[in-house]
Amino acid sequence: MEFDVFNCEQMHEFGLKLASKLPNGTVVALLGDLGAGKTTLVRSVAKGLNIDEVVQSPTFNIMKLYLKGDRPLIHIDAYRLADLNTDIGLDEYIGYETGLTMIEWPQFISSLLPANTLYIEISITGENARHIKVYSKDSNLLEVIK
Ligand SMILES: Nc1ncnc2c1ncn2[C@@H]1O[C@H](COP(=O)(O)OP(=O)(O)OP(=O)(O)O)[C@@H](O)[C@H]1O
Ligand SMILES: [Mg+2]
Repeated sequence: MEFDVFNCEQMHEFGLKLASKLPNGTVVALLGDLGAGKTTLVRSVAKGLNIDEVVQSPTFNIMKLYLKGDRPLIHIDAYRLADLNTDIGLDEYIGYETGLTMIEWPQFISSLLPANTLYIEISITGENARHIKVYSKDSNLLEVIK
């Protein structure tokens, strides 16, 4: 599935849809350059799950767990794990069975990604425009967000 968004509002709508449709245990792998909108999309998903806390780029945390919404949200930013090649126990959190896991820079922990990973690739096409590609080995995931 591929589509374009032309402003932040349309990206937000996509995030709300993910929050309402994705089944528990889904892992969302967010691909895209610096500033593509990965954290922005996580914020929209958090809103959709009624999480009131401010979702920040977990640059210093690598992982942040939000438990006060409708279902748990785990936000991982693997950027600082680049080339580290070390097991920090993240696999315990990925695919948390009662909620959603969203991972920025998933290429740095690709061996930990399960089959029910939904890949979302965001490309910058203009100041506020983004091209979005969505794919997964799990066809059910693509079906539910159609
Ligand atoms: N349509 C859009 N969708 C998402 N973000 C947009 C859009 N248009 C403009 N932006 C802006 O692009 C920026 C995206 O920043 P964001 O922190 O989400 O990127 P990121 O992919 O998480 O980067 P990083 O790799 O540094 O973590 C924000 O300033 C946001 O307001
Ligand atoms: Mg980010």
